[in-house]
Order: sequence, then C-alpha cells, then structure tokens
Amino acid sequence: MDVTYSILCALLFFSVTVYAQNCVPTFQNNEVEIELNNRKLTKTVTGCLVGNQLPRGNIDTINIKGQVIPSLNSGAISNIQQKFQLNIIHNKIDVIRENSFRNLPRLVDLYLDHNHITSVESYAFENLPSVETIYLRNNNIEVIKKDTFVNLPKLVLIYINNNNLKKFDQNWFVSTPVLDRLVLHDNQITSIKRAAFQDLRSLTVVSFDNNNLRYIHPEAFYGLNRLDELTLGGNELTSFEEVNLSHLSALYRLGIEHNRFTYLSPRSFNAVRGTMKELFIQGNPLQCACVDELVMWASNNDIKLFWKCEEKEIYCVFPLSSENDCVKRPTNQFNSSLIESFSSDCTIE
Ligand SMILES: *[C@@H]1O[C@H](CO)[C@@H](O)[C@H](O)[C@H]1NC(C)=O
Ligand SMILES: *[C@@H]1O[C@H](CO)[C@@H](O)[C@H](O)[C@H]1NC(C)=O
Repeated sequence: MDVTYSILCALLFFSVTVYAQNCVPTFQNNEVEIELNNRKLTKTVTGCLVGNQLPRGNIDTINIKGQVIPSLNSGAISNIQQKFQLNIIHNKIDVIRENSFRNLPRLVDLYLDHNHITSVESYAFENLPSVETIYLRNNNIEVIKKDTFVNLPKLVLIYINNNNLKKFDQNWFVSTPVLDRLVLHDNQITSIKRAAFQDLRSLTVVSFDNNNLRYIHPEAFYGLNRLDELTLGGNELTSFEEVNLSHLSALYRLGIEHNRFTYLSPRSFNAVRGTMKELFIQGNPLQCACVDELVMWASNNDIKLFWKCEEKEIYCVFPLSSENDCVKRPTNQFNSSLIESFSSDCTIE
C-alpha cells in the first residue's frame, strides 16, 4: 500500500475520532435547514452538527427551529468554515453547555431566542473570532456564570432581554474588546454595583429598562466615557441625585421614566448638560415644583425633555405642605393613592 495513502488514512481516522470525542450528542433526529446558494435543504441530524456532513457550497444560514432539543452540549455545532448565520430558536432548549459552538471561524450572528434556557454555562460562548451579535432574547435565564462570553474579539451586540436575571456582572465577559451594546431590559435585576462596567469601556448603549432596580451605586458608571445612551426606565428607583454622571462624558440620551422619583432636580444632571440632548422623566410622581424647574432648565440648555404623559391629566404632584419648593421629602409628605396612580404606562409625544 502507498505510504502517503496510509498516512492519510491514519490522519483521517485520527480526526474523525477527535471530532467524535468532542461531540456530546445534542441532536436526536432533528431537522436542520441549510440555506446555501439561494436554495434551502433539509437534513436530519443525530449527535452533533459537524461541517463535513454538510452539503458543499456557500452556506449563508443554518436554521434549527421548532424542534425539541433539551440542551446544547459540547461540540453541538462545530467545524463549519463558511461565513454564516446560525438560528437555533423555538426549540425548548434548557441549557447551553461549555463549548457548544466549536471551530466556527466565520460565524457572524448567533440567534438563540425563544427557547427555555434557564442557565448558560461558563465558556458556552468561547473563541468565536467573527461573531458580532449574540441574541438570547425571550428565554428564562436566571443565572449567567463568570467567564461565559470569552474571547469574542468582534462581539458588538448582545441581547439578553426578556429573561429572569436578578443580577448583572461584568465578569460574564472576558476579552470582548468591542462590545458596544448591552441589552438587558425586561429582567429582574435589582441593583447596579460600583464600577459595574469598568471592564466594558467600549459600550455605547446600555439598556436596563423594566427591571426591578432599586439601587444604583453612586460610582456605578465609572469608565463609561463612550456611553451614548443609558436607559433605566420602568424600575423602582426613588433617588438619583447621588449617582455620579460625570463618568458619562459622551451621554446623549438618558431614560429614567416610570420610576418612583418624587424629587429630581436640574442639579442631578448638571454633569451631562454639555452632551445630553434627550432626557426622559415622564411617569414619575414628581413634585410639580421640580417639574417646573426641569422644564425651564432643559429649555435653557437645549435639551429635549419628555416629562408629560399624553393621556393623563395629572403629571405632577403637590406635596402636602410648602408645595412651591422642589426639595427632597419623606413619603409621608405625599398622598399615597395619588403616587400609586403614576405606576401605569403612558404614551409620550
Ligand atoms: C464623580 O466622578 C468624577 C470623575 O469623573 C470625579 O472627579 C468626582 O470626584 C466624582 N464625584 C464624587 C462626588 O465622587
Ligand atoms: C388623595 O388623592 C385622591 C385622588 O388621587 C383623592 O381622592 C384623595 O382625596 C386624596 N387624599 C388627600 C388626603 O388629599
């Protein structure tokens, strides 16, 4: 037998075993739809989805939809060299395990929305050199572990909205140098810690709307000097004046609407007066004297202030005494049923 041939055989055998070792079976007769050269092909997969099982051609998208897949295991999707998008949505996946995505050098977009994911293991997303976006929307994620998004040099956007997260920790991310947009709205996060984003300084958009935020550390936003948009609407914040906004030297839009502020003063926003162009404060039970001050201040500083709910007659409250002063007051200075009436959503102009 030709020597080269036997070496080749040995190599082939070796690589096949390596793949097999790296594959903890994920699929069980699942349908995978492959879009290539403007055609769609369907393939039934058991075990792992490995590049050498796929048809030849320019694959642009791989869809795995509406199947029952309990977990994505190590090597679930691996060794695909083409530039492509991967959609694994509506599959009832509970867990994403370490190294589910392996050797996918040109994977760009990864969609994992609408599964039942409750946990994502450390190193679930590791060494994906071309990935720009990861979508984990509409799952049941409660916990993300340290070192989950690791070595993703091109990751720009991450969407983890509409989940059950109680905490945010920047240690989820390691070596994600161009992360631009962190979207965490509609979770149950209760606080933002000191310097919570100091290792993610490339961020320009951070969204925490509709969580249960009650506390923001005064130095929470340390290091975010590229941040353009910060949205904190629909939370339970009662006080904002101690939050140090000086760190946000590029802030353009700030949303703190629909919280529980009775007091907000122009002083709270002076640090960002130079760059901020839009401020959303509507739907808070603010003292009327404070609203007056803010409206005047915004107009003097050329800031667009959204302060009024369209369909509501009452957009500010009078405290029970000295109503002309915008000052910090204890809750017993307000009519509680009136304060409650501010909790519902509203439309703005
Ligand atoms: C707020 O942050 C700035 C740095 O951007 C710092 O100089 C200043 O001392 C901080 N303010 C307070 C009250 O700590
Ligand atoms: C509190 O506000 C409600 C309406 O929002 C009003 O009916 C009630 O009389 C007020 N109570 C007091 C003590 O002013």
